[in-house]
Amino acid sequence: MTETVLEPVRKTSAEPALSVRDLSVSFHSDTRTVHAVDGVSYDVAPGEVLAVVGESGCGKSVTSMAAMGLLPPTARIGGSIRLGGRELVGAPEKELQKVRGKDIAMIFQEPMTSLNPVLTIGRQIGEVLRRHQGLSRKDAKARAVELLELVGIPAPARRIDEYPHQLSGGMRQRVMIAIAVACDPAVLIADEPTTALDVTVQAGILEVLQSLRERLGTAIVLVTHDLGVVADAADRVLVMYAGRAVEQAPVHDLFATGRHPYTRGLLGAVLRPGGEGKRRLPEIPGLVPSLDSQPDACTFAPRCSRADDTCTGSRPGLRAVEREAGADASHRAACWHPYAETQADADSGTGSGTDTDTGTGPGTSAAAQEAGK
Ligand SMILES: Nc1ncnc2c1ncn2[C@@H]1O[C@H](COP(=O)(O)OP(=O)(O)O)[C@@H](O)[C@H]1O
Ligand code: SF4
Ligand SMILES: [Mg+2]
Repeated sequence: MTETVLEPVRKTSAEPALSVRDLSVSFHSDTRTVHAVDGVSYDVAPGEVLAVVGESGCGKSVTSMAAMGLLPPTARIGGSIRLGGRELVGAPEKELQKVRGKDIAMIFQEPMTSLNPVLTIGRQIGEVLRRHQGLSRKDAKARAVELLELVGIPAPARRIDEYPHQLSGGMRQRVMIAIAVACDPAVLIADEPTTALDVTVQAGILEVLQSLRERLGTAIVLVTHDLGVVADAADRVLVMYAGRAVEQAPVHDLFATGRHPYTRGLLGAVLRPGGEGKRRLPEIPGLVPSLDSQPDACTFAPRCSRADDTCTGSRPGLRAVEREAGADASHRAACWHPYAETQADADSGTGSGTDTDTGTGPGTSAAAQEAGK
């Protein structure tokens, strides 16, 4: 089983706003079972931004939807999701409805699919306020204007009477954020919130998220493909691969010394000569494996140049990387042969480069000890 105790990076006595432990989600049909999420754990502290990254299909959205209690009935959920001390896994839908939008809220990639085209944006923000906070129509409208201002929409008193199609994509996303934060939720999950937007607009949206965490202390889970967004906006990063958490670290540590070969592959391709300016997750040779089984092995092994019999014979748990001077104990990787802090990634964890092993490679102590357990 995966190790689960993960400290928030901010030194705060506050409880985590959201605490996910050993979360698993599988989808069952007559013909197959898909293990979309397999033993994922994380905490997000108030005012912290946790980025969740990984290739498409790695379970990022399913993890988010589980936290929102929005998975379809075909989903089987295991583990625990605690929001301010309340358990959400297994909670009745009626309870979840009270929490959703009020204590935990979500913004999606494409605001047009979430906004109602026939209602003004003021009405849509107002409805959330009326439902959760019992505000009168007039008070809800006044508060909606404040919220539009908070998310940086110019001339909010006029804009409030407009319809979604009258706004640009970036402005619509700001409206979605206004709706999401209308009730000052403790946790905001933003699932690819800037993917559909151009870079300048994207920067504006990230600024809004930053100001929310600073002004309201919102804990933010930022799901993204975009490593530039991660570098700009996150405090800490969770790297997911094939439904599992493979690395978790403060953002600086991850970019400076990613330990998992998958992380190195993601970062290496961005930093490689010719890769400059490329902000989206790069292609890593090979395919994300089928999620039909939960192998007792490292699921990255078929794509990893460091793989050996240990990797294909047992599953690596998420564990603290060895602590060099100044290293943060909250840096964890699920790998039998993680890169050392100072180790160059000549092989980037993928393909067939020269292995510049400096002591944590295949067959060395950490892996051998673990494998023997
Ligand atoms: N409702 C569903 N029924 C069956 N499989 C699903 C469902 N939703 C997601 N999946 C599967 O779960 C896996 C993870 O999906 P997702 O979380 O959307 O990936 P990501 O957001 O990382 O791109 C994928 O293999 C996807 O096909
Ligand atoms: S070295 Fe082994 S455990 Fe680590 S990512 Fe590669 S295959 Fe997985
Ligand atoms: Mg997704």
